Amino acid sequence: MNDMKGKWALVTGASSGLGIEFATLLAERNANLILAARRTAPMEKLAVQLRQKHCVEVVVEGTDLSGPGAGAELKARLDKRGIAVDVLVNNAGFGLFGDFVSQPIQKVLGMLQLNMLAVTELTHLFAADMVKRRTGDILLVASILGYEPAPGYAAYGASKGYVLLLGEALHAELKPHGVNVTVLSPGPASTSFGHVSGQKDTAVLRMLMMAPKPVARTGIVAMLRHRSSIIAGVMNKLVVFSFRFTPRRMQGRIMQRALSG
Ligand SMILES: NC(=O)c1ccc[n+]([C@@H]2O[C@H](COP(=O)([O-])OP(=O)(O)OC[C@H]3O[C@@H](n4cnc5c(N)ncnc54)[C@H](OP(=O)(O)O)[C@@H]3O)[C@@H](O)[C@H]2O)c1
Repeated sequence: MNDMKGKWALVTGASSGLGIEFATLLAERNANLILAARRTAPMEKLAVQLRQKHCVEVVVEGTDLSGPGAGAELKARLDKRGIAVDVLVNNAGFGLFGDFVSQPIQKVLGMLQLNMLAVTELTHLFAADMVKRRTGDILLVASILGYEPAPGYAAYGASKGYVLLLGEALHAELKPHGVNVTVLSPGPASTSFGHVSGQKDTAVLRMLMMAPKPVARTGIVAMLRHRSSIIAGVMNKLVVFSFRFTPRRMQGRIMQRALSG
């Protein structure tokens, strides 16, 4: 177990699902935490638990990261407190399931703003500091839907493809500067994600469904081992691997069946 005593970890989307698990796993390794999301009540509750159980410092930052410049504002608040972030877990995100043309465009754009632009802004801001200090770890949460076209999740899947490529490229770019970047690609996990996105419950999703804790643990362990990219779960690895041998024109059709039941 890597001891992270005295280090500060920023976890976005820490009010729910994978974010709670990332924060808990980091606190178990003695890291101090900054929890960031819109809903402060669940984060305050988590903060009390983590302070009591692990004797770590926890700061709660209520923020809507889908607003332009929200990342810079959050960074400025942390600078003011004198907190230098050693670990950034870029986890906040949501999906929108359904026909692309039926989805309200403002919702689609808000999702892209959060899933791609906020991730880019936060990574840029905190990586620049890490490069100066020649140390730091960044975990980006993508998805197995970032590996192939995902009808029904067209824009969401594309946003996660962006995160996957950004993270894998930054892994190589920042390594010589002492900064590690790791991408975690989960498959379906039992969080609020499906409810928020309006996802249908299909046989394939039920088969692939994982509890959030092992998904988060896979990401944290991979980050601490300085892996560039990791897919959570054996079944999800098999799905992505099998797509390597599937013609691209067929990939979308297979995913459409899997996601629509
Ligand atoms: N669960 C899955 O099946 C699955 C699969 C692949 C990838 N992922 C990815 O895993 C990540 C975590 O999702 P989850 O499964 O844990 O879902 P979740 O339980 O719905 O959690 C999403 C988190 O993102 C935060 N968030 C949403 N909009 C935000 C905003 N505008 N500003 C700040 N924070 C915001 C939410 O907090 P507030 O609502 O309080 O703001 C919440 O803490 C996402 O990036 C998702 O795309 C999930």
